[in-house]
Amino acid sequence: MKQALHERLIGWRRHLHAHPELSLHEHATARFVAARLEELGIPHVTGVGGAGIVATLARGPSNRSVGLRADMDALPITETTGLAHASRNPGVMHACGHDGHTVSLLGAAALLLADPNWSGTVQLVFQPAEEGYGGALSMLADGLLERFPMERIFGYHNWPGLAAGTVAIHDGPCMAGGARVSITLHGLAGHAAMPHLTRDTMVAAGHLIVALQSVVSRNIDPLETAVISIGMVEGGVAANQICDVVTLRGTHRTFKPEVRDAVDAGIRRVADGIAATFGMTAEVEITPGMGPVVNDPACAAMVADAAGEAGLTLRRDLPPTMASEDFGWYLSRRPGAFMWIGNGAGDGGRGLHNPNYDFNDAILPAAAAALAGTAKRALLAA
Ligand code: NI
Repeated sequence: MKQALHERLIGWRRHLHAHPELSLHEHATARFVAARLEELGIPHVTGVGGAGIVATLARGPSNRSVGLRADMDALPITETTGLAHASRNPGVMHACGHDGHTVSLLGAAALLLADPNWSGTVQLVFQPAEEGYGGALSMLADGLLERFPMERIFGYHNWPGLAAGTVAIHDGPCMAGGARVSITLHGLAGHAAMPHLTRDTMVAAGHLIVALQSVVSRNIDPLETAVISIGMVEGGVAANQICDVVTLRGTHRTFKPEVRDAVDAGIRRVADGIAATFGMTAEVEITPGMGPVVNDPACAAMVADAAGEAGLTLRRDLPPTMASEDFGWYLSRRPGAFMWIGNGAGDGGRGLHNPNYDFNDAILPAAAAALAGTAKRALLAA
């Protein structure tokens, strides 16, 4: 990538970093992306599935098509980096590097525009609301694949802890599917000193948190993967009252539908059982969030070829992660692959969702080249 383009991309990335917007509120971000597409002269459609944008690059006689996707939303985290381009939107931060993903895709567009050696259609998908707010599903529901045909789709996430600019690709499972779990215990409130006249949801909740861990360890084949974490406990109004309602909120992650179903069933069974033990009732809500990201091996090979051609270091030996990505929804409709691109060191607060995280601008050329090169490869595939 030419130095001038890299510097332009850095400027855009830092602008987006300084002006982060939460999921479902990416309106200024979308306007910024649309303005850059305008500058580049790339036709685009706004308002796809919310703040989503799809830009279309077409060249030559080929009728082949491919999609490249980036996410645009930020997180409800207060930034602590102290950088000159730190968030100016209090309590909101690009702590997952979606600012970098968005600009990488603009960079890939610039590379493809300047490259005469391809033929076909590349759909550039700028997605809102990736952080658990259904952005991929909203764009799919708004006719993404029908209005903007693409035979395959690719995307990437920056990966702290992986050497800067190194491309990692998995031949199959890459990131887990996730579901939100909410369990509300309904008991009977009363005086803290007269527990026999109450149904104590706090004590039951304690047992339930512990018992839920047995779902993975005792109900799931040890050679399969699953995780259940309770991240929030809500309940109680006074230290000397036994409260009647406690809500536990958490998440579970799995790769396979049969394991997911077993985890769902296990959570319901254990919640009902614990509630019955303590003479109360449990209300269980399990909301599917994201499907697993499972790469198509042929598409993974295209990524590997493109990375090699671009002279990037390639890793094919990384284990999958139990973290989730809503890119999996696209892969449930079209073959494709999701790559990780190293963001450099991941320690000392440089990990994803950390208030001290920042996207590494040095990897923009690698990311843009990997995306553009993969699109070109995919357009050549049968
Ligand atoms: Ni992310």
